[in-house]
Amino acid sequence: MKRCDLLVDVGRRRFLSGAGLAAAGAAATTMVPQAPARAATAPARVTYPSARLVNIKDLKENEPIAVTYPDADAPGVIIKLGKAVPGGVGPDRDVVGFTTMCPHKGFPLHYNHERRTLNCSGHYSVFDCEAGGQETWGHATQNLPQYSLRVDANGDVFAEGLDELLYGRLSNVL
Ligand code: FES
Repeated sequence: MKRCDLLVDVGRRRFLSGAGLAAAGAAATTMVPQAPARAATAPARVTYPSARLVNIKDLKENEPIAVTYPDADAPGVIIKLGKAVPGGVGPDRDVVGFTTMCPHKGFPLHYNHERRTLNCSGHYSVFDCEAGGQETWGHATQNLPQYSLRVDANGDVFAEGLDELLYGRLSNVL
């Protein structure tokens, strides 16, 4: 039987041209310089608004006053504890402020007058107001965000920041 040289030759050329293209493609792929991947990063330093929350004359010992900070969607309290505590301001260094959204899953917190704690009705986390919002019990994995407070010459109490991330926020930037 006579062999068809023409068809064999066509097949070889197609094979070689295809292999050549594949090799060229692979070379091109490996030679194209890759731009370095960059993820968008949030600014590390967060600027907070300064907001007047109460006047020192409004406060009675162990009677929290409901406030919002840093915006209307963020409930909190200002409390006069009657003794100097971490983060306390005012003449007796006893005025503190905290968010009342639990850092675990955002349930509202309620003040326990006897223990001076903020307690979660969701999963029962407990935060010590006399210890900078330290969690003493429960599921939360962070302490309670405490306000940075300042008292001016008129006795007005201003919040000017928070020491932890508020529940539900990716950053504390407004
Ligand atoms: Fe407060 Fe879970 S929401 S402990």
